[in-house]
Amino acid sequence: MTPALLRPAVAADEPFLWEMLYEASHAADQGHAVADLKTIPALSRYVDGWGAEGDLGVVGGPAESPCGAAWVRLLTGANAAYGYIDDATPELAIAVAPSARGTGLGTAMLERLIADAAGRYPAISLSVREDNPARRLYQRVGFVDVPDSQIVNRAGTTSVTMVLRLR
Ligand SMILES: CC(C)(COP(=O)(O)OP(=O)(O)OC[C@H]1O[C@@H](n2cnc3c(N)ncnc32)[C@H](O)[C@@H]1OP(=O)(O)O)[C@@H](O)C(=O)NCCC(=O)NCCS
Repeated sequence: MTPALLRPAVAADEPFLWEMLYEASHAADQGHAVADLKTIPALSRYVDGWGAEGDLGVVGGPAESPCGAAWVRLLTGANAAYGYIDDATPELAIAVAPSARGTGLGTAMLERLIADAAGRYPAISLSVREDNPARRLYQRVGFVDVPDSQIVNRAGTTSVTMVLRLR
């Protein structure tokens, strides 16, 4: 298989990250458009002002037409999001464009991001719907469920917090 094309997510990628957040948050299920995300603080905090200190991400796919991104951001205090576990641990968001799913790009981006984050953060956390097949990907790279972390999410279903310890 051709190795995935990966590069760091920079500030200029913010518009693309909004698109990927739209996929990661399953916002279409609620009838939202991509632009709506900016008005939903629980989601916008993952992307708004991308490129701030501590932001770390990977964009995947051809340079002229990227098709996936995985990124982490420290979200603390009033900005804490669904996957918050402590003030030192950034939260993960990841998505691949629908037409490019299931071909290994998500795995490649996540593995690169984990390697990049290892020297900087003690752990990575995330929130995922309990029935999302992405849980298998997370488990394969080492994420485990945070005990008693089930919450009712925006869609009214159950989400669970997972954590990957890096040291
Ligand atoms: C999750 C996601 C980023 C994985 O990227 P990918 O390139 O499809 O993943 P890979 O091909 O490297 O790995 C396959 C794994 O991805 C996950 N996956 C594949 N298709 C998926 C889909 N439509 N939805 C969610 N996860 C999927 C599964 O865990 C799968 O493992 P399996 O083969 O054991 O079922 C991508 O499928 C996606 O964008 N899904 C929708 C958005 C989403 O759910 N994001 C996570 C929110 S917490």
